Amino acid sequence: MRQAGRSLPEYRAIRADHRMLDACLTPELASEITLQPVRRHGVDAAVFFSDIVVPMKLVGVDVDLVAGRGPVFANPVRTAADVARVREEFTPERLRAALDPVRDAVRLTAEALGSTPLIGFTGAPFTLAAYLVEGGPSRDHLRARTLMHADPETWAALLDWVADLCGVFLEAQVEAGASAVQLFDSWAGSLSPADYRDRVAPASRRTLEPVRRLGYAAGEGYAAAARAVPIIHFAVGSGHLLEELAEVGVDALGVDWRTPLDEANRRLGGAFPLQGNIDPAYLGAATDVLEAHVSDVLRRGRSAPAHVLNLGHGVPPETDPDVLTRIVSFAHGA
Ligand code: CP3
Repeated sequence: MRQAGRSLPEYRAIRADHRMLDACLTPELASEITLQPVRRHGVDAAVFFSDIVVPMKLVGVDVDLVAGRGPVFANPVRTAADVARVREEFTPERLRAALDPVRDAVRLTAEALGSTPLIGFTGAPFTLAAYLVEGGPSRDHLRARTLMHADPETWAALLDWVADLCGVFLEAQVEAGASAVQLFDSWAGSLSPADYRDRVAPASRRTLEPVRRLGYAAGEGYAAAARAVPIIHFAVGSGHLLEELAEVGVDALGVDWRTPLDEANRRLGGAFPLQGNIDPAYLGAATDVLEAHVSDVLRRGRSAPAHVLNLGHGVPPETDPDVLTRIVSFAHGA
């Protein structure tokens, strides 16, 4: 999850000298930051250090990650003319030509990880559009959801443009050696099932097409078993959308802490490996309270065909890193 590194002193030491997006786009730094939690906590996979706005930045869109706030776009994309302009100027070809920092960072990291899997990711079109239309973070993404209904054609053109850029970003990570990928549609929980299905899911599916076409990983290590790169789909607060998220055509679903994993598994007909869903609020609780919660998550996760233990959303920056290390060894011993 994003912000995972923020609780680590070794991450903060690097960030003291480098802006967020500069760190993402300097392969040696992105690789080092990706490896830090693996080294410290002994987790079973690494999450590539990048951000959902990186493809936008690389293609030339004026975006920054503002500390304590999130992505801020200097020129919000709100009208048919705005969408036509960005589609014309910021093309998938232009992005492809700018992706070397990402390819190099993935390559370096996959090499250093050896047999430990590297999870690449991209933001999903709706979540990025929620920032693009608003110009920055918003509570319930009303401007984006309004555009969806006020001008469905412009909305579809905006989402397809984002989907093509995110698809190229994801494809580059898989070609460079990522062994699994995650589609983060963090803010999809603000949508009704019908709007998700009709106005958002087609673009999410489009994002995944290039990786689906690749079929098999080009990288070494975990991916050398020549198996398809699994795709994980995750949205926050999306218990009401589980079935719709599954229908996008993914291999596993991430679940936040609001929906127990056994309930999610039941609703999905036992057909999907699940990822989740320690409530980040427990990270500050007493050890026995936290361990009881983790045990409960593990027990419920056993009902699914497979279970990847993680947090239901990001690590709060004030988290004691030793608590995270203890969760990993507790889970490994369970
Ligand atoms: O945790 C990791 O390091 C994995 C890499 C990762 C980051 N962002 C790095 C990051 C991942 C997977 C993301 C995804 C991301 N980025 C999402 C989807 C996942 C989610 O959390 O729902 C979203 C919505 C974003 C956009 C974004 N980037 C936000 C909202 C923020 C937080 C802004 C703030 O300061 O509160 C960021 C910044 C960001 N991305 C940080 C990290 C490590 C924090 C930078 C810092 O302050 O050091």
